[in-house]
Amino acid sequence: MAPLRTVLVVGSAGYIGLAVCQAFVRAGWRVYGLIRKSEQAASLIVREVIPVEGSLYNSAFLVKLLEEALRIDVVVGCAEPEDYATYLREMLDMMHWVAQANQGVRPLLLWTSGSKDYGPTKAGHSILSPFTETSILDPPPPLLPRTTSSVKVLDNNKEFDVAVLRPTAVYGYGSSYYGGLFKFAEDAQKNGSQCLQIAADPQNILHAIHVDDCADAYVALAEHPDRRAVGGQCFNISARAYETNKDILNALAEEYRFLQGARFVDVSQSLNGLDESIKILFGFSQWVSSEKLRELTGWRDCRMLFTKNLHVYRLAYEAAAKKQLRINNRQSQWNAVDWLEPASPVRV
Ligand SMILES: NC(=O)c1ccc[n+]([C@@H]2O[C@H](COP(=O)([O-])OP(=O)(O)OC[C@H]3O[C@@H](n4cnc5c(N)ncnc54)[C@H](OP(=O)(O)O)[C@@H]3O)[C@@H](O)[C@H]2O)c1
Repeated sequence: MAPLRTVLVVGSAGYIGLAVCQAFVRAGWRVYGLIRKSEQAASLIVREVIPVEGSLYNSAFLVKLLEEALRIDVVVGCAEPEDYATYLREMLDMMHWVAQANQGVRPLLLWTSGSKDYGPTKAGHSILSPFTETSILDPPPPLLPRTTSSVKVLDNNKEFDVAVLRPTAVYGYGSSYYGGLFKFAEDAQKNGSQCLQIAADPQNILHAIHVDDCADAYVALAEHPDRRAVGGQCFNISARAYETNKDILNALAEEYRFLQGARFVDVSQSLNGLDESIKILFGFSQWVSSEKLRELTGWRDCRMLFTKNLHVYRLAYEAAAKKQLRINNRQSQWNAVDWLEPASPVRV
């Protein structure tokens, strides 16, 4: 019989975190999910995830958890903290205590960052070459703290192994930032527009992945038999193919029945009136290779691409919004200029 494997997911009530919990449950792991609010426990329990209430800055939860679990094979960091430097320090402290108490088992930390760490594909980048794990990290300024911590975390490999995961944008169910696409179309429909219109380059690449496929990638890395091939490495997580602004706007126009379809206007025209998150989504062109992950683990994404199942994804998003399930709208507070304008280069 395979030994019981245990994973602790930090950020388990979040969009990616919850999907990661479920992927590990499906793969037969015992899954603990760290939550900060007791009202989040039920959503874990119904998914057969064991909620652990606590904060990273107070190790009381860890003492209790280690007494119960005896050892933790894998820790997944899926938080979107307000302060990445503190979060990094607290996670490393926690990993130290896990490693100390782990009955000689060397734990693995799977640290979530994101493919936007590479920055957008800009003029001068060859449109035919995707970002790979060896590409320069050149994030938009708002992401610098996340990118920096994803580099620093790799320096910590004395007591445990660590790998950095960089998913592209993620969609499905309540949806994450892609939920903004549905809202964008819905708003245009409510405004009585005859066509769905944006000021963006139709050829921009929107590379994304279904959150279930993304979560399965975490399990594939956690279960890889050769830890040396995983530890100290970065892995991109992206779907087998990308879609373009044109694919997405056309599919949305069809789904929402805009009589005059979709229209792209010149990017130099004002985007005024559009939510910032939509400017970022349509303006941030990025193609990301996940060949390294595929070759190492055999992981494959299997869920339908966004435009191929858009109606179903829309219904799921709307149902989640109605039930007021977590819908990720944080990005709408950000300023597209910080993300899309070529500011002074920020290199990591
Ligand atoms: N969503 C995407 O499309 C996407 C794509 C690529 C990469 N990423 C990256 O993936 C990670 C997770 O993103 P997400 O969209 O799943 O975020 P999310 O839905 O906002 O969830 C983040 C979770 O982190 C928890 N959290 C925040 N600060 C914490 C702290 N200091 N200690 C413990 N837990 C903390 C939150 O807890 P509360 O519920 O208590 O607030 C929340 O449950 C982020 O690093 C993000 O940048 C996201």
